[in-house]
Amino acid sequence: MALENGGAEALGAELVNDLQLSATALRLGRGRILLDVTDAEISMTTSMNATRQAGTVPFHRLVPKLARGPLDALSAIANETGGQVVRLDFGPFRPYLVTYPDHVQQVLRGNYSNYAREGGIWRPVRRVFGTTIMGQGSAWETSRKILQPIFTSRFVASLGDGLAKTIEEGVGKLDGAAGSGRPIDTAEEMSRIVNMAVIRVLFGDKISHRDGERLCAALDSAARLMTLRLLVPFVPFLVPMPGDKAVADAIRLTDEVVRPLILKARAEPDEGVDVISALSRARASGPEEDENMRHDIIGIYAGATETTAMTLTWLWPVLNNHPEVYARLIDEVDRVVGAGPVQATHLPELRYTKMVLQELLRLYPTAWLWSRRAVESTELGGVRIKAGSQVLVSPYATHRLEEFWSRPLDFDPERFSPDAPGRRHRYSYYPFSGGPHQCLGQHLFYLKAPLIIAAVLRRFRPVSRLAGSPTPFPALTLRPKQKIELELVRRSSASAR
Ligand code: HEM
Repeated sequence: MALENGGAEALGAELVNDLQLSATALRLGRGRILLDVTDAEISMTTSMNATRQAGTVPFHRLVPKLARGPLDALSAIANETGGQVVRLDFGPFRPYLVTYPDHVQQVLRGNYSNYAREGGIWRPVRRVFGTTIMGQGSAWETSRKILQPIFTSRFVASLGDGLAKTIEEGVGKLDGAAGSGRPIDTAEEMSRIVNMAVIRVLFGDKISHRDGERLCAALDSAARLMTLRLLVPFVPFLVPMPGDKAVADAIRLTDEVVRPLILKARAEPDEGVDVISALSRARASGPEEDENMRHDIIGIYAGATETTAMTLTWLWPVLNNHPEVYARLIDEVDRVVGAGPVQATHLPELRYTKMVLQELLRLYPTAWLWSRRAVESTELGGVRIKAGSQVLVSPYATHRLEEFWSRPLDFDPERFSPDAPGRRHRYSYYPFSGGPHQCLGQHLFYLKAPLIIAAVLRRFRPVSRLAGSPTPFPALTLRPKQKIELELVRRSSASAR
């Protein structure tokens, strides 16, 4: 990868730093670089406070690469520069790309207060998904303090039985498709099942079936229609764009469903095991706090649905391409769940299922890229980061760094076996982010996703109609570019049950 401005521009650094950085720059010039550099070397460079300008991937090289395949391009840039902090030259927009685990750790955790969750995608995201838990600053902080104790593993475990029942009901509806022999649209069906589960977690039995469906439809369409705004986040909201009206309609519809539920939870407080009851107990009453509750609920919904549904959409074609993994997964479900129905008590035994999900999120992290804004000028990996600039972190690229993952493109759940040798750098794997903004829903994900997989596999063996692997498509979440159609073959053991 040829980088420009890669030479050492030492800003007040000592001679020794200049020498080190020049060596780095020379290696940059040779293409594959720094693969031999240890963590110790990196932190030594960092602690010496030496700064040079980041190498830039120039516009004329970047754009054709991205046009051929943006995700492969990101991953190639990360590997070819050995995880160096580089600038991507999109013309007026010149973000830094951060992929090396030490550097990611600094952005998300070590120096997180200097990397604000502002600008980039966050403005349009917040407009729809709220300004509390998806926000920044004191509103986020208060919300996080309230929500964190709600999403503990204990609370999530207490949802297990209700959730398992909802999931069995949702998966059971696939029976019709299996009987007719017509394929299912995987993204659509996984979204339907996940939405049912999330609505159950949020509202328990306080929401009618019809309102649940309206809410899912409204938020789904808002997320889809927002894509254009996400692509050009710098365009002010005053400038109208296609999709704006539909997004506004979706927000209105969401309010029509959520606001009455909040008022009801306030008027009739209970000890319910659902998020709206827990929030109602935790947030003081009053119109402002009701509004914050609305933002909390929509933020959680947004975080919980698309990410999980897309992960479960990737799963089936990947399993079809790895018959040995598929067979082992089915064996585990047969052994643990047997004649079913699936129950929360099965979870601790579904160990291989969890390893498969962990590896799936390595290769196809649905949150594949997100941004921060540097509040003040700072240094990262020996590179000067200018105040106000956008910094991109990409698990997709980090999870494919050859320095940290052997055979990075191979799908191998054994990497996550408790018996796997060696320890990983904490930030070589961060599908759920890290630091203060780390995903609140990790426990919930590892509750509902294995239950959904087990509920499907005890009935069917889904066969993908796609030959080969799907192409990753970078929307707000990472999606397969192709429509994934699955034929649901009834399992003979299941039909005998
Ligand atoms: C495969 C599933 C999921 C993935 C890949 C995922 C990924 C992420 C990531 C990367 C972030 C951090 C963004 C940042 O650093 O700015 C995040 C935050 C968040 N996630 Fe998840 N998530 C998943 C499932 C869930 C679920 C099931 C919930 C439901 C509770 C959830 C709720 C949230 C919330 C509320 C935040 C904001 C946390 C904060 O900023 O304090 N997520 N998620």
